[in-house]
Amino acid sequence: MTNKEKIELMRARERKIELGGGAKALEKVKATGRLTARERLARLFDAGTFVELDKFVEHRCVNFGMDKTEVPGEGVVTGYGLVNGRTVFAFAQDFSTMGGSLGEMHAAKIVKCQERALSAGAPIVGLNDSGGARIQEAVDSLAGYGRIFYRNTMASGIIPQISAIMGPSAGGAVYSPALMDFIYMVNKEYAQMFITGPQVVKAVMGEEVTAMELGGAMTHNTKSGVAHFVAESDEDCIDQIKRLLGYLPLNNREKPPVAACTDPVDRMEEKLNTLVPEASNRPYDIKRIIKLVVDNGEIYESQALYAMNMVTCFARMNGQPVGIIANQPAVLAGCLDINSSDKASRFIRFCDCFNLPILTFVDVPGYLPGTGQEFGGIIRHGAKMLYVYPEATVPKITIVLRKAYGGSYLGMCSGQTGADVVMAWPSAEIAVMGAEGAAKIIFRKEDPESLKQKTQEYIDNFATPYQAARHGLIEHVIEPRETRPMIVKALKMLENKKEDRPWKKHGNIPL
Ligand code: HXC
Repeated sequence: MTNKEKIELMRARERKIELGGGAKALEKVKATGRLTARERLARLFDAGTFVELDKFVEHRCVNFGMDKTEVPGEGVVTGYGLVNGRTVFAFAQDFSTMGGSLGEMHAAKIVKCQERALSAGAPIVGLNDSGGARIQEAVDSLAGYGRIFYRNTMASGIIPQISAIMGPSAGGAVYSPALMDFIYMVNKEYAQMFITGPQVVKAVMGEEVTAMELGGAMTHNTKSGVAHFVAESDEDCIDQIKRLLGYLPLNNREKPPVAACTDPVDRMEEKLNTLVPEASNRPYDIKRIIKLVVDNGEIYESQALYAMNMVTCFARMNGQPVGIIANQPAVLAGCLDINSSDKASRFIRFCDCFNLPILTFVDVPGYLPGTGQEFGGIIRHGAKMLYVYPEATVPKITIVLRKAYGGSYLGMCSGQTGADVVMAWPSAEIAVMGAEGAAKIIFRKEDPESLKQKTQEYIDNFATPYQAARHGLIEHVIEPRETRPMIVKALKMLENKKEDRPWKKHGNIPL
């Protein structure tokens, strides 16, 4: 064979692999509304930068006639390239090829991609679209999943791991996404994740439920909290992943990428002086406040539809990416509960892993009362907040807008639970508990008229930021309009913050 013929043969082999399950199978996939695996990767990576790994890998299963079955590309495309000029690794399962099912060699391709991403110190993106373990390969498939999960855990906290559910993801297959940092879900009939599907649920539990109700994008973004982002299409999903990557460093040894800032850092925002209602029980939307503070009013929310009494989002201050945690007084008065504690704690740990300074906006009346919360373990879930803030060594700045009562304030990064800088607005009420409740206990023997007067005295003296300021428990009381410049100055001051922790294998976070 001539060299020319050898090259032609190589190209022909490649073309066959690139067609996955074949033109007809690809058309079937596209008819469902999906992009193909290769189209998804083409949208993710900058044009012409994608380098495929292990293109020629083949399975070596001989069970159930598999020795005569070709699986071009092994049902997954893996590789690396540039996303907005920065190195990223990715794998995309190809549903056209045996339903994207995962056998030994399919898993081996993903494992190598994970290992290369970890050693290169670059994020990994997993685009999931698979019928799960390749049944014919039996325990070899299971072992493949085990190897992937192991590497997910090894990479955790070292490189960002981002997962998208763009097709079926059932059984144990859901756990690689669950071990990664963020899960995107496409809100379409073809994308679900669940441990046991609707038929099993019906057979075992007698419950009738559709696949979308059980494991669709809205279920996991609103009810279970398993997913962090919902996308309206494959294209939207990939564009959002690129947006998220823009806030993140490539690995835990880097700082996040600073963008050019077009919003004046000394911008005084007059509206902030009047946005928080004077009556401390009146709701308002914390996101309006956050948007007035951050660069160009831009935030990117994680878990926007879950535990909405807490807001977790990415934003920039003077071009520098930050993570923001904020009580949302418009939902459940912004109180802490099981789900909001879980949501915020995980987000805080992510920010700490990847060197994103943390801004905490506080307006918290306390923990949600009731048997539902107590029986559900609010004590251990709420404890996560008290654990993760002191654990985090990134710069931490807390802004107290209004209520900051009792243990819930300590759970929102007070000075004593880890903040480097605490600034309070004059409307702040930093107190051991709400004024009415406190006065009722201290002045319980007073007649009603005197109780009213003494309660007012208590409010004037203790439902303020000044006792905390007098005792040096907070650094600043500021005009709300100064918030942006003050945060920018604090971030600059903390630019080279270095904080060590006593040696340990790892802590034992309450779970
Ligand atoms: C082998 C599979 C497969 C699998 C799908 N296919 N899943 N082949 N192993 N797990 C094949 C189908 O046989 C079919 O091949 C092609 O992929 C497309 O599948 P369809 O069924 O035609 O597609 P659709 O109607 O869209 O249904 C998709 C599906 C369904 C819901 C995912 O295929 C399905 O239920 N698959 C089985 C799911 C499953 O039980 N997986 C194992 C779970 S156990 P042809 O040749 O007809 O085109 C597991 C354990 C993991 O995952 C443990 C980890 C710890």
